[in-house]
Amino acid sequence: MSEPTKQETNAAPAAAAPNSSPEPLLRVTDLAKHFPITKGLLKRKVGAVKAVDGLSFDVRPGETLGVVGESGCGKSTMGRLVTRLLEPTGGTVEFEGRDITHMSTGQMRPMRRDVQMIFQDPYGSLNPRHTIGGIVATPFRLQGVTPDGGVKKEVQRLLELVGLNPEHYNRYPHEFSGGQRQRIGIARALALKPKLVVADEPVSALDVSIQAQVVNLLDDLQDELGLTYVIIAHDLSVIRHVSDRIAVMYLGKIVEIADRDALYASPMHPYTKALLSAVPVPDPKRRGGKSDRILLKGDVPSPISPPSGCRFHTRCWKATEVCRTTEPPLIQLAPGHSTACHHPENAPDQQPQDTVKLLDAPAKVAEAKPVDAKPAEAKAVEAKPAAAEAPGAKTAAVPEQKSAPQAEAAAKAEPAKAAEKAPAGEPEKAAAKPDAEEPAAKPDTEEPAAKADTEKPAAKPADEPAAKPSGDDAAGSSED
Ligand SMILES: Nc1ncnc2c1ncn2[C@@H]1O[C@H](COP(=O)(O)OP(=O)(O)O)[C@@H](O)[C@H]1O
Ligand code: SF4
Ligand SMILES: [Mg+2]
Repeated sequence: MSEPTKQETNAAPAAAAPNSSPEPLLRVTDLAKHFPITKGLLKRKVGAVKAVDGLSFDVRPGETLGVVGESGCGKSTMGRLVTRLLEPTGGTVEFEGRDITHMSTGQMRPMRRDVQMIFQDPYGSLNPRHTIGGIVATPFRLQGVTPDGGVKKEVQRLLELVGLNPEHYNRYPHEFSGGQRQRIGIARALALKPKLVVADEPVSALDVSIQAQVVNLLDDLQDELGLTYVIIAHDLSVIRHVSDRIAVMYLGKIVEIADRDALYASPMHPYTKALLSAVPVPDPKRRGGKSDRILLKGDVPSPISPPSGCRFHTRCWKATEVCRTTEPPLIQLAPGHSTACHHPENAPDQQPQDTVKLLDAPAKVAEAKPVDAKPAEAKAVEAKPAAAEAPGAKTAAVPEQKSAPQAEAAAKAEPAKAAEKAPAGEPEKAAAKPDAEEPAAKPDTEEPAAKADTEKPAAKPADEPAAKPSGDDAAGSSED
């Protein structure tokens, strides 16, 4: 692992919640998974897909941690690592204080009862040749457990618990709708009364009308059974509904983690800000009005050779030289709110001396002032103690004698002055122009994050071979 990742490890406690109990249910430290890329008959290793590259976070008993990010950023891999369906390349996973990182299948068997996974695909994760009674009973069979009253009675109780008719015990998966199948998957995951449930995009394959029902079911079950969730989603509206805390992932790393309300009210990482700006606001008053959307250009870079420094620098409108060269550590910039950014939003600039942007703003964007001083940001600037310290690094727009707030303001004014140096990578505020003016930008406006999973199959070169459980393999692998 690279040096900056170690930096991040040092900052790992920052990712924990401020009032975390002394014993989190799940503690992940510097977790990594590099899938080797091999070539030739001898399967010589020629590279690695750095699917997960240094994650650190805690999950407290009873809470829901939401994990969001674009397709291919390593969310599913993270889910499979913490449930130990995949063997980590590095880092540690502790469950109830026990290090389970490299436990064998046999050692993991008792642990399987406590940690369960709900899979994304309600069609692929149920064996079509088994009745739903048989599917929900699989965990009992694999664990050699006979519940009180017998397996059949317990399975019927579970079916009822998830809102299915217990009389349908003998029916086959094809006789159920997508939402009902996902309920069957949930019943199977709950069979052994787990403590932690990792749900990988539990509703993204369902119709929107059904999504709310399944989300509400997960919510109710959490209250009823005292479950702890890690819920993975690319849909920020789902995540907002279910999560207590949210971790935002980009290219195998957590770039921001915070309480839900703090994250939505004042996102610090530019990537989070861009993701949030893509969430449609159902407000008729805003129809035809200005939109605050930030349009991220380009695809997520390849995890085989991620960009140097900050991995987001190739798409970030605030990127400066330090972003290209130095990976920002994940540090706590407000209570319980950690971010990995040299120039965060809504928080003091971590590298105020570095004012030369890699990509200067085009005129129209400069007019729209995409990173215009906002009250919260202005406050953060005021809080900054020292003046910009590296005179050599300053541009003409930032006189040496200026105080930090002035320097910041000047830096922000700079794009307007340098408007003619228009780059391609600058995100554009939809506010800057009506949609009709820039048809080329339109595809980007279509919720890049929210739809990424379905829209960019090419972003998944390996097609998730391990990620798509087939038949009862899902249960088998999670249970065995
Ligand atoms: N078994 C595998 N072998 C090789 N690469 C994989 C494997 N599983 C996932 N990947 C790659 O790891 C990256 C992260 O994948 P994944 O965790 O599925 O992302 P997400 O769930 O966020 O879409 C992707 O580039 C994907 O192609
Ligand atoms: S400002 Fe720099 S460190 Fe922050 S997200 Fe952008 S590129 Fe990364
Ligand atoms: Mg996934």
